[in-house]
Amino acid sequence: MADFETIIYEKKDNIAWVILNRPHVLNAYSMKMRDDLYQVLGAIKDDNEVRVTVLSGAGQKAFCAGADLREFLTAPSPSIARRVRWERDIWGLFISLPQPMVAAVHGYVLGSGIEIALCCDIRIASEEAQFCMPETGLGIIPAAGATQTLPRTIGRNRALETMLAGRRIDAQEALEIGLVNRVVPNTQLHSTAERMAGQIAGFYPAAIRSAKQAVIRGLDLGLREGLELEKRVVSSLIQSKAGSSCD
Ligand code: COA
Repeated sequence: MADFETIIYEKKDNIAWVILNRPHVLNAYSMKMRDDLYQVLGAIKDDNEVRVTVLSGAGQKAFCAGADLREFLTAPSPSIARRVRWERDIWGLFISLPQPMVAAVHGYVLGSGIEIALCCDIRIASEEAQFCMPETGLGIIPAAGATQTLPRTIGRNRALETMLAGRRIDAQEALEIGLVNRVVPNTQLHSTAERMAGQIAGFYPAAIRSAKQAVIRGLDLGLREGLELEKRVVSSLIQSKAGSSCD
């Protein structure tokens, strides 16, 4: 795959590594990064060799310090921005990936940085990671899914406090409220993500995809419909002779 200006993409042993790579601006999320990510995620989605993706940020200081504030003044008109969003629905693409995504976050995880991490299925944070949603303080609101993904992850009350009061959350609190799955020393972030990804990649791919699909799609359903969905997913997994249910 071609080289990208704002991200690094590598594939090794059925694991895709996607690294946000603008460390000079703390990996701020720019329009170019959106386009690069769109291309890479689209390729990952169609690549059966990829069984799991790990997403991380380059540099010492940040996973991602939010939207690129320097682009705010140069942003295209609302109608062009709307058309681009429609043509390249990056957040829709994120959540439609059949393979699991693991986010390995460190340093500043702000605004869109949290939103990107929330599009992943498992989040591992380094001990010094700091989370914050500063959008409302800037006169905007999160627009990369967090108004929906954050309450689904940490609950309504905490999500509202995080968004409305722009409070900083450290890694330990992030663990306690379920914003991240695990907290590890910074020196172990990469190896922990690699180990977890290796474990997922070693399992039966169709079973992994089915489990993810049942959970993610089921969260939008009532319990009864969710259980129906589970039945259908299990039966299609069995029919495809790709695996079997364990119950
Ligand atoms: N967009 C564009 N550039 C950004 C950025 C962003 N969101 N966040 C940081 N940068 C740039 C800084 O302008 C600086 O560039 P420079 O060296 O050319 O001046 C560089 O990244 C390093 O940031 P700096 O502010 O010097 O680091 P710091 O350690 O002193 O502070 C932060 C770190 C995260 C507290 C601070 O950079 C910050 O508040 N950033 C903005 C966060 C934000 O509001 N994001 C938008 C969310 S919607």
